Amino acid sequence: MKRFVLAITGASGAAYAKRLFDCLKGNAELHVVVSDRGVELLHLELGLKTSCFAGENVTLYKNTRVNTSIASGSFPLDGMVIVPASMGTIGRIAAGVSGTLIERAADVMLKEKRKLIVVPRETPFSTIHLKNLLALDQAGALILPASPGFYQGQKTMQDLIDFVVARILDQLGMPQDLLAPYQS
Ligand SMILES: Cc1cc2nc3c(=O)[nH]c(=O)nc-3n(C[C@H](O)[C@H](O)[C@H](O)COP(=O)(O)O)c2cc1C
Repeated sequence: MKRFVLAITGASGAAYAKRLFDCLKGNAELHVVVSDRGVELLHLELGLKTSCFAGENVTLYKNTRVNTSIASGSFPLDGMVIVPASMGTIGRIAAGVSGTLIERAADVMLKEKRKLIVVPRETPFSTIHLKNLLALDQAGALILPASPGFYQGQKTMQDLIDFVVARILDQLGMPQDLLAPYQS
């Protein structure tokens, strides 16, 4: 079973994280961390508490707990996804701050040359945002914006959420039937 970190921060788009969690649950070992502002957005946008991230092979951490397994490079991981990723968290990771568990776990993924998928959500981007995203890309992260396509008959909000989640699952090397490969 693959082992992933799912980090949820205080950008808009909690539905992407919840859908990704539901797709991975039961198919992977999951280590979930939600930032304080992520907790607020989860409630504001979906009416959910962090207790929704529960199940077999699921561990939920407080973002203040930096002394956990996922904060160490000695703990093997197949990937980490930050979804949605706030510009604040992106900036702190780009600066190597590592003050919270999310920041430290991301720092570890980069130093160990493991897969780190960052799903930013902001519009428009400032020069600072773009520089920080470039810094993460250059450090080895994959920047996968929450930018759903509309060219495969997407009609509902769920279709648009699934478009983004399907691309994340593809990048994690996990099977998905949310979105078929495009064929003209
Ligand atoms: C309703 C609401 C929506 C927000 N949406 C975004 C967003 O889409 N992108 C973003 O970068 N920040 C957004 N923010 C700001 C972040 O929540 C804020 O910068 C916070 O400090 C991020 O903390 P975190 O990175 O620890 O989660 C939003 C804030 C609120 C209250």
